[in-house]
Amino acid sequence: MPPRKIIIDTDPGQDDAVAILLALASPQEIEVLGITAVAGNVPLDLTSKNARIVCELAGHTEVPVYAGCDCPLKRALVTAEHVHGKTGLDGPDLPDPQMQLTDGHAVDFIIDTLRAHEPGTVTLCPLGPLTNIATAFTKAPDIVDRVQEIVLMGGAYFEVGNITPTAEFNIHVDPEAADIVFKSGRPIVVMPLDVTHKALVTKPRNDAFRALGTKVGIAVAEMTDFFERFDKEKYGSQGAPLHDPCVTAYLIKPELFSGRFVNVEIETQSELTMGMTVADWWHVTDRKPNATFIGDVDADGFFTLLTERLARL
Ligand code: RIB
Ligand code: CA
Repeated sequence: MPPRKIIIDTDPGQDDAVAILLALASPQEIEVLGITAVAGNVPLDLTSKNARIVCELAGHTEVPVYAGCDCPLKRALVTAEHVHGKTGLDGPDLPDPQMQLTDGHAVDFIIDTLRAHEPGTVTLCPLGPLTNIATAFTKAPDIVDRVQEIVLMGGAYFEVGNITPTAEFNIHVDPEAADIVFKSGRPIVVMPLDVTHKALVTKPRNDAFRALGTKVGIAVAEMTDFFERFDKEKYGSQGAPLHDPCVTAYLIKPELFSGRFVNVEIETQSELTMGMTVADWWHVTDRKPNATFIGDVDADGFFTLLTERLARL
């Protein structure tokens, strides 16, 4: 089976960083065609810098990194320094990147890449607000049907919100963009907080990262040491939830995950519930299912996979 060709759209973010590392450590299953940065956890100048820091940490400076949209389609940018620190990658002391951004806008890279590859052969993996993806779909509607699948981290249903009582951060930052993507008609797999809050970096799991003794293993341990504070204080979690790596792990070992094909719509009108992913989990409406909404993960299997792959870098 040839590796799946993907574009990672991202707002690093410690958990984005681990998702990117896992992808770059898995060339048999994943070919990263490029990384597109978007404003989210921190502003675009930092997310586009952090994406390059992670590529250098992984020893993969051949991967093109593009800067994308610096603000949501309609709303003001909301960032999450309270979770990820002011750099977005607080924790390890990593050097500034030597690799440059690749010329061109991320949206044009997404459009050009989908047009250049056979239809149905490129998967989009958004790990942040969906601004770049929605902008590409709007600017070039012909690319939508060329997308093989969209596997994204975002949303929440039973777990409710992490940035407002009803909304998860990625969707809340740009609900209009999420609405465009969820109405695109392409196959979508959603990794919501319902599942990512079950992928917690407990102390033994963090110790296993550190015990790798490699630059990557130690950096990941230090990232999660920093990034766990928010969730420990808010939820009393046993450790940092590895939101975005669930996307990459799904591409490698989908059998670790389970969910339901349901209708998911995005709240874009009410300020009270803005950005909520309204999942019709019990099929109580006649709205057409449009997304595989993941609710569970074999957490031990996930961390075994992640740790063994990080050991390769
Ligand atoms: O709500 C969690 C999501 O928001 C993750 O993708 C995290 O990196 C932030 O982007
Ligand atoms: Ca992210």
